[in-house]
This record gives sequence, C-alpha cells and structure tokens, in this order.
Amino acid sequence: MEPRAEGEVKYRSVFMAMAEGAVLQAADGAVTDVNSAAERIEGRTAGQMIGRIPAELYQGSIHEDGSAFPGELHPSMVALRTGEPQSTAAMGIHRPDGSLAWISINSQPFTAPGESKPHAVVTTFHDVSEPRKAEWKHRILFEESFDGLFVTSPAGRILEMNKKGILMFGYSGKEEILNLDLARDVYETPEDRGRILALADTMGTAEYDVVVKKKNGERMVTHCSLTAVKDERGRVASYMGAIRDITDHNRVESELKDSRTQLRNLATHLLSAREEERRKVAREIHDELGQVLTALKMDLKWLEKRLVPSPGQLQEKIGGMIGLTDQTIRRVQKISAELRPRMLDDLGLDAAVDWLSRDFSRRTGIACTVTEDLGKLRIGEGIATALYRIVQEALTNIARHAQASRVAVDMRAARGRVEVSVQDDGIGISEEQAADPHSLGLIGIRERVLAFGGETTITGEKGKGTCIRVAVPLSRDVAQA
Ligand SMILES: Nc1ncnc2c1ncn2[C@@H]1O[C@H](COP(=O)(O)OP(=O)(O)O)[C@@H](O)[C@H]1O
Ligand SMILES: [Mg+2]
Repeated sequence: MEPRAEGEVKYRSVFMAMAEGAVLQAADGAVTDVNSAAERIEGRTAGQMIGRIPAELYQGSIHEDGSAFPGELHPSMVALRTGEPQSTAAMGIHRPDGSLAWISINSQPFTAPGESKPHAVVTTFHDVSEPRKAEWKHRILFEESFDGLFVTSPAGRILEMNKKGILMFGYSGKEEILNLDLARDVYETPEDRGRILALADTMGTAEYDVVVKKKNGERMVTHCSLTAVKDERGRVASYMGAIRDITDHNRVESELKDSRTQLRNLATHLLSAREEERRKVAREIHDELGQVLTALKMDLKWLEKRLVPSPGQLQEKIGGMIGLTDQTIRRVQKISAELRPRMLDDLGLDAAVDWLSRDFSRRTGIACTVTEDLGKLRIGEGIATALYRIVQEALTNIARHAQASRVAVDMRAARGRVEVSVQDDGIGISEEQAADPHSLGLIGIRERVLAFGGETTITGEKGKGTCIRVAVPLSRDVAQA
C-alpha cells in the first residue's frame, strides 16, 4: 500500500470515530465528507449532505435569540471567505424530522502554502441541545413566574429582572431597569437596603416586607425574599430575589381595621347617647313628676284639714289618696334612680355602687359586700358611669344565672388605673359562654371598657363561681362625650 493512502486510511478512521460531528467542505462550500457523529447529530445521512452547501442544508437555522442564521454566515463559509478560524456557541438547526438541534460549531480553514485562499474547511460541532433545554426551562420558569424575580449586584444594580417584575414596577423594558440604583431609585427608605443585605449575608436568605417606589413614584408595599449567592471564596457575588406586591392585602387589612374602629366608635356613641337619654328622662321624672306629685299631696293635706269635721267616709277616702300619692312618689324616685342614680353624679361611684349592692341583696337575698380603696381619687363622669353599669350588669347576671349565695365587689385605684371586680360563688360561667358573640350583656361590658382603653377578663370555674374583672386607665376619661 502506498504511504499516502495508508495515512489517509488512518486519518479517515480517526475522522469517523470522533465523538464530535465533523464535516469537510471544498473551497466552494460543498460538503465532501461527513462522519457518523455528524449524521447522528444532524439526523440525516452522508448521502443527503454530500455535494450540498450550508445555505441548502441549514435552511431556517436560528440564532439563540430566535433570529435567522443565514447559510452564508455559517462559520464554515466565513472561514472560507476570510481564511480565519470561526466558531459559534450555538446555532439552532432543523433536522429533517422537524426537531430542533442546538450545536456549538468550530470551523478550521485549510490554506496550502502558496495559496491565497483556503481550498477546504473542516467543521466540527457538538450537540448542546440538552444543556440548552435545561437553561430554557429555567428561563421560562424565570420569565413566566407569578412573582417578580431579580438578580442584583452587591453594589446595588439590577442585573436581571423578569417580565413580571418589570411590569410590577411600571417600567417599559429591561434597559430602563438596568440603570437603576436600588437604594436611591427603588427603596422608599434607602437605609432599608443595608439592613436587608446584612440579614441576607448572615442568614443566607432574608424574608421581609418593604415599601418601594414604582417608576411613576407610586408607593408599593412588597413582600420579598432575598438570597445571597456566594462565590467559592464565600464572598457575595450577587443577590437573587423574589418580590410580590402586597399593597392590596395591606389595604384590605387596614380597611378592615378602620371599619372595626368605626363600629367600636359607633358602639361607644350609642352607649353614651343612651346614657344621656336616661339621665334626661330620670331628671324629668324625678323633678317634674316628683314636684307635681308633691304639690298634689300638699293639696290633699290641705283638703283633709278643711274637711274637719266631715263624714268618716270622706276622711278615709282622702287618707287613702294621700297614701297612694306617697307610694307614687316613692315609685317615681325608684324609677328615676334605676334609670340614673343621682348618687353617681352627687356622691360618686363608691356611694352609687354601695346603694346598688344593698338594693341587690334586698331584692335577691344574696349577701353582697363592697370593698373599695379609691382614695381621694376623682373618677371622671364617663368612667364612673361605665363602671357603675358594669357592676349593675354583673349583679343582674348573678341574680339571673349564677345560683350564688355570696357576692364580693371590689374597687381600687392602682398604678393609674381603676380596677373593679365582681366575684360570685355560683355555678361558674363556661369559657364558651364568656366568649359567645351573642352574650350581649358581656359584650356591653367589654365595649364600655374598650371605649376607655381598658381590659376585661371574665373567668369562671365550674361549681366555684365567676369573676368579672375590669381595669381602666384613668388618663383616658375623655372618650365619652
Ligand atoms: N355570674 C354568672 N354565673 C354563671 N353564668 C353566667 C354569669 N354571668 C353570665 N353567665 C352566662 O353567660 C351568659 C351571657 O351573659 P350575658 O351576656 O349577660 O347575657 P344574658 O344575661 O342576657 O343571658 C349568660 O346567659 C349565662 O349563661
Ligand atoms: Mg346579662
């Protein structure tokens, strides 16, 4: 065998055995030889390739960004024209079966000594479809995510941001966002960034709510998670994050809070309006009706004297009328006292509660003691009324539900607060009853206390009794008009 031919056989077997695809082309670009890896990668036979040029073979090829990759710009053709080696990181070619293959290409031109132009070119390539597919998957995940996703540099530039993120901030494209300075242009409070980065650096990942500015200057409340990406030496190379607009959540929450406050204010207003109404009616009954009745009684007395001597029947009748009038006067006093004890206004909370407790014992036969240590404290009218009504409701409940034999009411001033407790030794309220939203009496107690910024605890122990304890700060005696 001729040495040249022997060498050729050797090179051809290497050529065929290469894992990379290899294609030989002549000076005009026509394919003269292909190896089996090339057949496999391109999905066609040597017969289908030999004699053709890239413009025919690779119709419809694309660059990574999807734009056309014309045959004349195939690296082999450029290498033939320029005499320089060429390479392309990725070219998408369509196989005859319609599938898309991504290949990375190197083209090496051959120019013999004395020649001005290459007489051939060898192109090697390998399939990069798989890594590319994985990257695409990530790309799609990144771009189509429900959250805004971003990558920032340690210095505070946005390096990457997905569509959702760009949209969220109201920018029109990536170019705009890449020029932003995070601390200056994005954070509402620039110092927030340092605080958050410190957290991410030490914890690896930070989760936080932060207020940011949109392109148009609008505020946006966001929930973010930020992860520090470190290099081999443990230094932060970049930050990756996800961001979600929670402005609306916050709005709903604060609207809810607002309407709760409004309801509470309404309840307070209704309570104080009712109290005012009662006071007016009580005064009217007591003063007007009381005076008329007293005048009536005096007239009857006057009549009785003038009628002496007179038939016993008439005397008796008048005596009865005077008695009735007396009774009515007492009834009127009682009704007006129940509506609004004058004592509360005239003598203060302790006297009023004392009267309440004695009235309660007389009517129910349940022993009731009142202890108090209010000192010289002047409790404002609003708080005094509220506490009075609370003790009144607690005692009414005991009469109705407790089956108690003893009640202890305690009132004391401590640490700028008035504390009042009503303890009985009855069956004990259950936790469900105490928390029942239909327990209007108990809710009334809580509302009155809340109106003054105080606290209520209602506890019961089965068979041992119930305790209602309220504490109201004294500085707040202005809530009730
Ligand atoms: N001192 C008490 N002892 C036992 N049970 C009580 C006591 N106070 C209240 N309860 C229970 O709590 C419920 C709610 O009380 P309340 O809101 O005042 O409603 P009402 O008195 O109109 O039933 C009562 O129905 C009763 O079952
Ligand atoms: Mg009740």
